[in-house]
Amino acid sequence: MLDIVTYPNDILKKPTKKVDKVDKEIKSIIKEMFQTMYKNDGIGLAANQVNLPFSLMIIDTTPRKEEIVPIKEVFINPVITESSGEITYKEGCLSFPGLQIEVKRFSFIKIKAINENEEEIEKELTGLNAVVFQHEIDHLNGITFLDRIKGIKKRLAVEKYKKLIKKD
Ligand code: CO
Repeated sequence: MLDIVTYPNDILKKPTKKVDKVDKEIKSIIKEMFQTMYKNDGIGLAANQVNLPFSLMIIDTTPRKEEIVPIKEVFINPVITESSGEITYKEGCLSFPGLQIEVKRFSFIKIKAINENEEEIEKELTGLNAVVFQHEIDHLNGITFLDRIKGIKKRLAVEKYKKLIKKD
């Protein structure tokens, strides 16, 4: 089990490094990331959220299968190659325990990455799958969902989060 880093830890603000080789170490990290994500009831997790500076993220939207056709996938060195449309979703983040923020994102994306078997994958994602992918790839680029909102909305979210972490 890995520990989840919570905001405002600096590692969440730094872009991650590309993975050169999907070796044993990376494979065992992937396994532990899935265990950690499930234990914390998450549907996506980026490696820097568990203090590992790699461009590696996992998604399993199976808990939301009533809403969408779920995906369960490992994305290494992911990139978004096309995007369109708009969707607003109330997002949570394991690095901001208890906080939910409405974020506007693309409703359709095309992506490229490699998987745990070092195969190149290309996918089209929509709806919640696209939202989670954009949330996690932001983490890999040192961006949190707080950076995706502005003005009064942001100030309120920051205040709420400060209260939430004081309670613990
Ligand atoms: Co997050």
